[in-house]
Amino acid sequence: MNTEEERVLGYSEPHVCETKKFSVNAENLALAGEILRRGGLVAFPTETVYGLGADALNEEAVRSVYRAKGRPSDNPMIVHIASREDLEGLVREVGEDAEKAMEAFWPGPLTIIFPRSKQVPDTTTGGLDTVGIRMPGNETARRLIEAARCPVAAPSANLSGKPSPTTAADVLEDMDGRIDAVLLGEDCDVGIESTVVDMTGEIPMILRPGYVTKEMLEEVLGKEVRYDPALFRQPSGEDFHPRSPGMKYRHYAPEAEVCLYEGENLEAVRRAMAEAEKRASALGRRTAVLDYGTDSRAAAHDFFAKLRELDREGYDLILVSGLKRESFGLSVMNRMTKAAGYEIVRVDETDASEEE
Ligand code: TXA
Ligand code: MG
Repeated sequence: MNTEEERVLGYSEPHVCETKKFSVNAENLALAGEILRRGGLVAFPTETVYGLGADALNEEAVRSVYRAKGRPSDNPMIVHIASREDLEGLVREVGEDAEKAMEAFWPGPLTIIFPRSKQVPDTTTGGLDTVGIRMPGNETARRLIEAARCPVAAPSANLSGKPSPTTAADVLEDMDGRIDAVLLGEDCDVGIESTVVDMTGEIPMILRPGYVTKEMLEEVLGKEVRYDPALFRQPSGEDFHPRSPGMKYRHYAPEAEVCLYEGENLEAVRRAMAEAEKRASALGRRTAVLDYGTDSRAAAHDFFAKLRELDREGYDLILVSGLKRESFGLSVMNRMTKAAGYEIVRVDETDASEEE
């Protein structure tokens, strides 16, 4: 952690502790659970991204998560549970839609927003009257929550603003010396964060797109699901109020400049990126091209880890080929657009390069 980063993040505390590196076994899970119970911070793998866990009912513990991440404290945390019984006491009511969604997608990469019970402290929900809950599909995650014997509040285990970590090494890059322990689990399967769906209203609303898509939810619920309109707007201006507070912050951004190429014709997009790479390289900029074709799964799995890797290697510019903004591709594009700081080059099929 350099001082420039500390200044930007508003985090000025010294490294506070030695971070224990736990391989995943029964003994270490019990120890990690005990650390959580006592108000400590433990990073752990999930199927989406690594989480930075704390006892969700312990305000002091939750506050230390905000500090470790350098995260604005109005940004609510997702509460992770290991079984359906854990839901009791955390929420005021479970509607019919939520029942169906839990049945179909839990454990898994879906966070459901419920009306919260008083037991969940303001610090955990950022003062909201609702609480986001998720039962992770990753077994290590669930065993840790069981060992902790408390619901576990966990944002992604990165410094605020950096790409979410999808490997234990990426967690340590940001968090070594700032948290009590890391469970050295496997690389994350999905690679982007869970879908967040608000089920407190008549029409379920997706606040953050993820692996569980609008179409998958509609199929299971047998009714229309909407996206929060704020998802499709650039986060600026006084009137920008996404329903998921986390969506308004600069996110997922590496040090390198990221430029996203988007167009109907993948070959035209590839040509445009190749030309841009040539131009940038001629100017002495170290340039990388990320081209996932039409494979949204591969893109999601790889993207955040790749941004971090290219930063470590000192790249200046990263050119990314976009995906179709539908289904899971839309979710990945949400992250790509943010990583690019909304810098998008639209490649029109009928542009000059196509007519040559
Ligand atoms: O996949 C994931 O969800 C990962 C892993 C660790 O589970 N967690 C994660 O947490 O991405 P975080 O804190 O980085 O993102 C949580 C998102 C934020 O955008 C936050 O605003 C939103 O969920 N959120 C949480 N509680 C909410 C609530 N009550 N109402 C609206 N949005 C909420
Ligand atoms: Mg996050």
